Amino acid sequence: MKTELLTTEFPHREGLVYLNHAAVGVWPKRTAEAVKCFAEENMRQGAADYPQWMAVECELRQRLAWLLHAPSEEDIALLKNTSEGLSLIAAGLTWQVGDRIVISNQEFPSNRIVWESLAKQGVALDIVDISVPDPEAALMAACDDRTRLLAISSVQYATGLRMKLDKLGSYCRLNSVLFCVDAIQSLGGLDFNVGQVQADFVVADAHKWLLGPEGIALFYAHPDARAQLSLQQFGWHMVEHVGDFDRLDWQPARSARCFEPGSPNMLGIHALNASLSLFKEIGMVAIEQQLMERSAWLIRWVGQQAKLALLTPKERDRHAGIVSFYCRDLDATGHELLYRKLMGKGVICACRGGAIRLSPHFYSDVEAFVPVWQRLVD
Ligand SMILES: Cc1ncc(COP(=O)(O)O)c(C=O)c1O
Repeated sequence: MKTELLTTEFPHREGLVYLNHAAVGVWPKRTAEAVKCFAEENMRQGAADYPQWMAVECELRQRLAWLLHAPSEEDIALLKNTSEGLSLIAAGLTWQVGDRIVISNQEFPSNRIVWESLAKQGVALDIVDISVPDPEAALMAACDDRTRLLAISSVQYATGLRMKLDKLGSYCRLNSVLFCVDAIQSLGGLDFNVGQVQADFVVADAHKWLLGPEGIALFYAHPDARAQLSLQQFGWHMVEHVGDFDRLDWQPARSARCFEPGSPNMLGIHALNASLSLFKEIGMVAIEQQLMERSAWLIRWVGQQAKLALLTPKERDRHAGIVSFYCRDLDATGHELLYRKLMGKGVICACRGGAIRLSPHFYSDVEAFVPVWQRLVD
């Protein structure tokens, strides 16, 4: 990976150690430029070149299909955020009283609340403790013949636990359970192959590991799973003959565009498309390798500090970009204070699950964290 490219694309301000991609990532320079350019164009000539904007939209869809190793961009819709995608699934499936859903006890609220909302339809939620040696076995053991769907984050937001999605996917396929992956904590950091994972649904917003803006998300639905979703939102953009405004009869688009009721988020599309061009240029295999080296470095560093303990599993196949740790002699308030001190010293990080959460990306200088830490603890 060319250092030159990284220095150009990530010109952070002096003294900043940005380790917070699990919350909100930074934009590469090319994304900032694309947004500036788009703003300038809007100011000077509005949407005079709308066909060109549609070409960017088309390119983004192709790049997202590349990112997921999806067979077709027709399986991907552009939504506002992960929560919206999960909500479309929950509201779109037809549930019977007694149906069950399996999730883990480490999910971000978006991937719990949405399923809890189905209780009024008689759908039961099984929340499985995955703080065990074999989390996938625990999830599979919780499924029975009433289980309709298993929803899981590819990487858990607080502990950083990485799930073995292939294992869960093949179990779900074999047992006719719908498999829904919230991939926001891995997509852009780890290579993701939707066919290998056998996911029915994949949802992820752009503003974390994909280094894009908030307010634009991808929603993948396998064609068979897509056919099971009743539509929740309607408008001119979700019909098969889009743009034929005089037509009175309509059918939903055959592609996943049927989930996009109205005007697209063109600003977000321009930004995310620029971010994805960087991922394509470097390649997901190289990005994953660089990211894993950085998280392994941090994990080793934590292991060498007597006062610190890891919350994140240290095995290579059990973590991704999140490294969370806690101080043995601090309580929750102490961690909150420590987090504020780190932020004050320019280490942008988070406090989650009672621990300090560091989340570098493939370009991050993780070693720059250490001198700041030492100045704080000395
Ligand atoms: C695992 C997970 N899912 C969903 C979300 C929320 O995503 P969105 O704001 O795109 O709905 C987050 C945010 O931190 C998350 O960590």
